[in-house]
Amino acid sequence: MCGIIGYCGSRNAAQLLLSGLKQLEYRGYDSAGIAVVHKSNLQLYKKAGKIEILRAIVPDILEGHWGIGHTRWASHGKVNDINAHPHTDCTGKIAICHNGIIENYTSLKKRLDSENHRFISQTDSEVIAHLTESFYEGNLVTAVKSTASLLEGTYGILAIHVDHPNQIVGVRNGSPMIIGLADKEMLIASDVSAVRAHTKQVIYLEDSEIVSMNSNAYEVSNMRNQPINKKIEVISWKLQEVEKGSYPHYMLKEIHEQTESIPRALSGRIDEQQATAVLGGLNMSDTELLSVKRITITAAGTSFYAARVIAYLLETLARIPTTTELSSELRYRNPVVEQGTLYIAVSQSGETIDTLMAVRELQRKGAPVLAISNVVGASIAREAHGGIYIHSGPEIAVASTKAFANQLAAMYLFTLKMARMRHMTWPEGKKFLKHLLNISNQIEEILNNADKIEQLARKYCKAKNFLFLGRGINFPVALEGALKLKEVAYIHAEGYSSAEIKHGPIALINPQTPSIFLVPDDYLYNKILSSMKEVKARNGSIIAISTEGDTQISHIADDIFQIPKTEQNFYPFLTVVPLQLFAYYCALELKCDVDRPRNLAKSVTVE
Ligand code: M6R
Repeated sequence: MCGIIGYCGSRNAAQLLLSGLKQLEYRGYDSAGIAVVHKSNLQLYKKAGKIEILRAIVPDILEGHWGIGHTRWASHGKVNDINAHPHTDCTGKIAICHNGIIENYTSLKKRLDSENHRFISQTDSEVIAHLTESFYEGNLVTAVKSTASLLEGTYGILAIHVDHPNQIVGVRNGSPMIIGLADKEMLIASDVSAVRAHTKQVIYLEDSEIVSMNSNAYEVSNMRNQPINKKIEVISWKLQEVEKGSYPHYMLKEIHEQTESIPRALSGRIDEQQATAVLGGLNMSDTELLSVKRITITAAGTSFYAARVIAYLLETLARIPTTTELSSELRYRNPVVEQGTLYIAVSQSGETIDTLMAVRELQRKGAPVLAISNVVGASIAREAHGGIYIHSGPEIAVASTKAFANQLAAMYLFTLKMARMRHMTWPEGKKFLKHLLNISNQIEEILNNADKIEQLARKYCKAKNFLFLGRGINFPVALEGALKLKEVAYIHAEGYSSAEIKHGPIALINPQTPSIFLVPDDYLYNKILSSMKEVKARNGSIIAISTEGDTQISHIADDIFQIPKTEQNFYPFLTVVPLQLFAYYCALELKCDVDRPRNLAKSVTVE
């Protein structure tokens, strides 16, 4: 979603902001803009479309050493040049960028209209510029503070005023914001990717904190004007991790990276001798973990499907009743929080607003919440009681792939720990670890056969509808496969338990609607085979993801892709890979923008 960057220092601000915006591209956006001040002159450039379009209208020699920039993902108002950020006030002296949604903007706008402020865009964000103007009496921080105190909704705001050279003011509520500290220059952005090229030292701003910075210093305070001492953190992501290398797309690179990212999630967290996991960040003692009676896992999108796999695993192996709930539903449902229930929030970005708000709602009710997240220092990770970082490394493609694998890996370890504290024996724990540690080799074997999936994608990508069918622990994987295909190839796909098709979806079966069956050699194998026969009887075409050595399947399926054998609880790691590749190659064949699919954002920070 929207990205923000601000810079003050001695370098050319326009070029720096433009390359910072480029690093934020992965979040998803539809327009971009910058405001750079030179000799009290506010130079504003904004354009709908890609950053290259903006870059083309920004003069190479644009002078100025401080300014702000923004990538917009439209929520209020069409995608056009005027609605792009930054927005200015009536005097043209103040410029602001905003991430998030101002829910009470209509009433604020009405009031500002009656005070003769002139609005030129259809955005909610423009009220921030005019409110700041209305409160401004020579002090920008005070004006932004007064503005923020009237805003309802979520925001990360940057503001500059031409009469305050070199000063940038930032404030957040629900939208991430970090300060980057470099030598005689300062950056501020919505995420670390925008500042990583310039510094490793960052400060995470919390909600209701306001920062005022220039190239040499920064001051953080709260809404009551009390100064806040902030901890400086060091970011560890390397620049090459966010480059495509020899891969044509981030999505393909990230699918392939699963072989390295899974071992990273496991590294240093396994106690081979005790056949259990060591998870230091949980911040819960073994006694507390043992008193957990129920678990609820909450998440959105792909993270939700990872959660559903884990719910299955936790019940099977740790015998802890576990439910999952979409964070967008949980947050508004007034959930009953009972003692003994542990909540887990899963989020790659750690900034998904629905999940963040669900975490806060649960914590307000006194529930312990653990976070399973990737981005170190993200809001969900910081606000949770404890958690596990999944260490997948930066995931740039909008479609989540390696994060799914690492969410599983981290939570498989958590399940092992919970199970070993309960009913799982030492030999069973040993076996569990053996399978888990072998997964990345098995994924490698699948990736070595990626060309077969490419051929399947070529054969089937013209279909308008797909069914993805699986059962048991692979049912959520079927849902994930359907999501991937929708996201990147824009093909309509439905995920179902294969047992369910006879209750309705079988009506869709015809020769033009392929069904992708996940049919590994688990205890539901014969049941899935029956569903396949039902589809075949109705002339449906079938692609089967089956296990090596399975000879029965060739009599039913039109096409087969075989995955290596593992213990049945570990198949989700393997069944998902051909589905990720299938979505990727379909998108490629259909000439879709694989890494930045239309309408989508990587980090969904608005409701
Ligand atoms: O960052 P999160 O894991 O919280 O994101 C949740 C979803 O927005 C995300 O998984 C989304 O569904 C992906 N684009 C899926 O590929």
